[in-house]
Amino acid sequence: MLIETQALTKQYRHQRGWLSRAEAVTAVDRVSLQLEQGMTLGLVGESGSGKSTLSRLLLGLEPATSGRILYRGEDITGWSFRRMQPLRAKMQLVFQNSFASFDPLFTVEQIVAEPLLNGPKLSAQERRNKVLELLSLVELDQRYLKRYPHELSGGQQQRVGIARALAPGPELLVCDEPFSSLDFPLRKTMLGLLLRLKRQLGLTVLFITHDLSLVSELCDRVAVMYRGQVVETLPGGQIAGTCTHPYTRQLWQAVPVQAPRYRKPRDLQMKET
Ligand SMILES: Nc1ncnc2c1ncn2[C@@H]1O[C@H](COP(=O)(O)OP(=O)(O)O)[C@@H](O)[C@H]1O
Ligand SMILES: [Mg+2]
Repeated sequence: MLIETQALTKQYRHQRGWLSRAEAVTAVDRVSLQLEQGMTLGLVGESGSGKSTLSRLLLGLEPATSGRILYRGEDITGWSFRRMQPLRAKMQLVFQNSFASFDPLFTVEQIVAEPLLNGPKLSAQERRNKVLELLSLVELDQRYLKRYPHELSGGQQQRVGIARALAPGPELLVCDEPFSSLDFPLRKTMLGLLLRLKRQLGLTVLFITHDLSLVSELCDRVAVMYRGQVVETLPGGQIAGTCTHPYTRQLWQAVPVQAPRYRKPRDLQMKET
């Protein structure tokens, strides 16, 4: 088992007004998940269901209120920032909006090279070669090396975000709605890229999305999150046939019909009459 959570819980205190008592909001509620090495786990749920909070807990970016996180069987719950440092290279995050996480004054080369500065010492040439290798992994032409983030398209920015996440040589890639801001054909292309990277590099992936249609292709298993809790876990390819929770059915029915050949029979009948 690469990473596992046991009854992981995160509460935030919300102060509504000056005089009112702070209320506790349970963003993540007793979540127990298991990610085996090499597996792709989808985490789906509507906005506000606690997906991003769970990913921050997993990566040790925020402390949990209760519960445990095990990495390769070792309890890493509550580890200090410094103690987490070597592990951090092993667990990397790809954001929905990579652009917002880039330093606008850095070129693509500097952005992708930055995580390499924390690793083993490399000469300038070695570092450049490593960046080129990473860009070729994410299928971004080397002529973008000296470009700035604002000169890139949304898809290219996400490619740079993935290249930067791959730079420290992670085992686990947590992708938090990485393609949500891209249009549908591009989303498909990027999904294909992620699938290839996963196979080629033997990555374990946690793929977070609110779109069930994306996870069914990519993921071995899918965990459905609702109001901070994982309400069910399903086999990736068979969501429609196996889901039992009403919320999952609702999510599945909300999957937009993207192309005529995916149309549900009912839609076709309606067109004929
Ligand atoms: N830093 C924070 N402080 C207070 N409340 C937060 C914080 N982060 C998230 N929340 C609350 O936790 C809940 C889950 O949020 P989030 O994890 O961002 O959901 P998702 O990623 O599924 O949209 C929401 O109700 C949100 O308001
Ligand atoms: Mg989120």
